[in-house]
Amino acid sequence: MKPTPFIAGNWKMNETIAEATALVTALKDAVKDVKGIDIAVAPTATALSSVAPLLKGTNIALSSQNVHWADHGAFTGEISVNMLKEIGCAWAIIGHSERRQYFGETNEGVNKRATAAIRAGLGAIICVGETLAEREAGKTLEVVSTQVKEGLNGLTAEDSKLLVIAYEPVWAIGTGKVATTAQAQEVHAHIRSLLKAQFGDEAGAAVRIQYGGSVKPGNAAELLAQPDINGALVGGASLKAADFAAIIRAALN
Ligand code: 13P
Repeated sequence: MKPTPFIAGNWKMNETIAEATALVTALKDAVKDVKGIDIAVAPTATALSSVAPLLKGTNIALSSQNVHWADHGAFTGEISVNMLKEIGCAWAIIGHSERRQYFGETNEGVNKRATAAIRAGLGAIICVGETLAEREAGKTLEVVSTQVKEGLNGLTAEDSKLLVIAYEPVWAIGTGKVATTAQAQEVHAHIRSLLKAQFGDEAGAAVRIQYGGSVKPGNAAELLAQPDINGALVGGASLKAADFAAIIRAALN
């Protein structure tokens, strides 16, 4: 049996507080009847506490776009697990390719962030994915294997209950170039085998693997129908309530 689909919107560095509250208000209304699908939005850090009360009692969970591994301390610009839980976050996106590419995040750092989050009860959406050069060099599975193995180092089957992997090929992010269903499914199946090897068959089968990279209302259903694609991590299209709602509904099929 496939796990419950999980559709998350990564708003990246978009939406002021005023825009974020308007967007989430429209989204709440657009998906209020949806059942059987996990939904989350990840506003910027500045908008989290304004969006949180609007989501209370709804079918939409709150996510941050990152989290630090320490409880508190001299880590300028970072936010701890407890700070995010205090606001009402249920999830944190960790190791997004933009964090890796522009801010030097490493698999080791991703592992520390994810371990701290999960052990304190905050769900971790760990992002992995190859660049265009890596794909063209035939290194996709090798790169993704390293990211998954090092990112998940030390996590147990119990920890995996709060784990989600997002496969986001870097060349498909914000480019309008979506991976073909065959390209996506191939990598998802590979990630699934790594999860089963680490957590055992049952726990490994239960971990949601999201696809991310130019997911739109027009391509979501086909991607989500693949056996190892259990949801989507949506960037640009999550900034329009109607588009994001249409992607969520595509997971109902
Ligand atoms: P786009 O949907 O804009 O391609 O972004 C994907 C992404 O990076 C989500 O984390």
